Amino acid sequence: MDTIRKINYTVVPGGVLKGTMTVPGDKSISHRALMLGAIADGETRIRGLLQGEDILATAFALREMGVRIDLSCGRDVRVQGVGLNGLCPPRRPLDLGNSGTSARLFAGLLAGQRFESVLTGDASLQRRPMQRVVTPLRQMNADLTCTEGGTLPIHIKGSQGLKGIHYVMPVASAQLKSSLLLAGLYAEGRTCIEEPVPTRDHTERLLTRFSCPVDRTGRTVCISKTDKLTAADITVPGDISSAAFPMIGACIADGSDITLQRVGVNQTRRAVIEILQMMGADITLYNEYEPGYEPVADIRIRSSRLHGIAIPPRLVPAAIDEFPAIFIAAAYADGLTVLRNAAELRVKESDRLQAMADGLQATGIHATPMEDGIEIEGGVMRGGIVNSCTDHRIAMAFAIAGIRAEGPIQILDCANVNTSFPGFVKTMQAAGLDVIEEIDDV
Ligand code: S3P
Repeated sequence: MDTIRKINYTVVPGGVLKGTMTVPGDKSISHRALMLGAIADGETRIRGLLQGEDILATAFALREMGVRIDLSCGRDVRVQGVGLNGLCPPRRPLDLGNSGTSARLFAGLLAGQRFESVLTGDASLQRRPMQRVVTPLRQMNADLTCTEGGTLPIHIKGSQGLKGIHYVMPVASAQLKSSLLLAGLYAEGRTCIEEPVPTRDHTERLLTRFSCPVDRTGRTVCISKTDKLTAADITVPGDISSAAFPMIGACIADGSDITLQRVGVNQTRRAVIEILQMMGADITLYNEYEPGYEPVADIRIRSSRLHGIAIPPRLVPAAIDEFPAIFIAAAYADGLTVLRNAAELRVKESDRLQAMADGLQATGIHATPMEDGIEIEGGVMRGGIVNSCTDHRIAMAFAIAGIRAEGPIQILDCANVNTSFPGFVKTMQAAGLDVIEEIDDV
């Protein structure tokens, strides 16, 4: 029988975060750099690639389709591009683990190939909505199906030729937009995607970097069928979604003063900074510059007294992955924090509105989940036991919460932290968080 490795964290209150730190490479950019490098002509070099399990899922799937990816030099990776039509049929279903980005983006990329493929993933990924990509890809003439419930596995038949469409996205989703842009590389004519609100634009920026410009007019992005992408040198900035944890830890732990170096601060991702500043956080950006295709900055955070706010709906998509951490800031703020228009949080790696409300209640904070949001009354966090629901961001959110709780917080099922923030425990210990990792082989 297989052993299952369970990892739990215990955080003892009282730490202070100090010094400078770097966070792992941006997850969204790392996926896209690997995928575009794989279908480009020539060798793509990626510096600072995230070494998390989600990214390895993308890398292994590409290797299964004949792409040579040299991961032997740690974060400095080389991809031998096979060209737009050079991928080979996979011999087995592509297991994308916990990674929603891999599943949605591969659906678009593989819809344009002449061979069959099957996409699957772990229990959490198998519960997440896939119909949102299957419906428009079918309108583009792709032959693919998911289950009746709109979930994985996705079966993709060999393409008979895709056609461009104009698609109005019913949800604000960068994964959906990116899936259609990748399919658009193979579709006759133009593929245009209209977003309800702007979502992260890493695919557009990287496509331009790989010599395939994307046009944007207002909320609509368009791509035309292309003959080739050209390999590029990519440096991946630090992931602001990972930076959010030490950032909020430093806001809430008295006496903290940390600087996070070379973090990506793309406008479509940085709303966590604006939300925290509205709550009274002391955050300053230094050395902001745009070395290539994405802006980066050093971010200094000093502890300060926070107050609750109504989070403006316009900021929701640009902070979508940071809400578990932001809810911890709200738990320690004076007064009420209200979030609405965030129903997408229910279909992430876990139902993040429910998982966070449960964890906050278990540790003594009043939190009321709503259909599309949550209300959190700032107070005293007692400590206790929290179930991460196998969601990396729930686990890391409660780990940083523990810095200021009245008693220890134990967080169960934290193995998936490795999907996005390998080395989280060591990095946070070095910064001053009193966290230990217990490994249980069951
Ligand atoms: C991502 C987009 C977001 C985000 C996810 C990564 C991406 O998902 O939550 O972690 O890389 O495009 P949606 O597109 O579903 O909003």
